Amino acid sequence: MRLITGITGASGVVYAKRLLEVLHHATDVEVDLIITPCGRYIIEHELGISSREVEVLATRVWDIADMAADIASGSQLCDGMVIVPCTMNTLAKLAHGIADNLLLRASDVILKNDKKLVVVPRESPLNETHLENLLKLRQRGVTILPPAPAFYHHPKTIAELVDFVVALILDQFNLPHTLVPRWRKPE
Ligand SMILES: Cc1cc2nc3c(=O)[nH]c(=O)nc-3n(C[C@H](O)[C@H](O)[C@H](O)COP(=O)(O)O)c2cc1C
Repeated sequence: MRLITGITGASGVVYAKRLLEVLHHATDVEVDLIITPCGRYIIEHELGISSREVEVLATRVWDIADMAADIASGSQLCDGMVIVPCTMNTLAKLAHGIADNLLLRASDVILKNDKKLVVVPRESPLNETHLENLLKLRQRGVTILPPAPAFYHHPKTIAELVDFVVALILDQFNLPHTLVPRWRKPE
């Protein structure tokens, strides 16, 4: 599987880092990574690391301004893409077909090729424009996956809450994992 991962400048870059860690150890998964300039800032601010420490987890790293990158072309065979976390800025541009950076262009290509696009939007509360854009994307087949962990597995740490969301993303691409126990009716 070849999965494009986009990181934008929303809170919650920890989800992206954890996803990339899991994918790094997965067999047969190649990851193409694109990080927006604001995404780089949030990585440093929230995780206290340089974006390079996230980039080393990917198979390939692309410059956000490189519109000639492989993944800007529909001729590349990619299986899907996830944008985690996704800002309302990137969400709005995506909903309106604006492709003025590589992350947006790659998303646009994924959609035109009818491949799976998962968006993990991060904002709260949501205004009317946010909601309209989310609906527009859903109507175009995009999977909207809010980073909203459940509590039925009795999480004790932030890492467990993060893993819950990452598990949902992996499930969307049918990637096997054991991050979170699946729900079973108590005996
Ligand atoms: C510390 C910090 C946290 C932010 N968190 C969010 C957020 O959770 N959601 C959001 O939509 N924008 C957030 N923003 C604003 C975006 O970074 C800003 O709109 C930026 O233009 C997004 O650019 P991008 O979509 O290219 O990454 C945050 C900005 C900063 C500085």
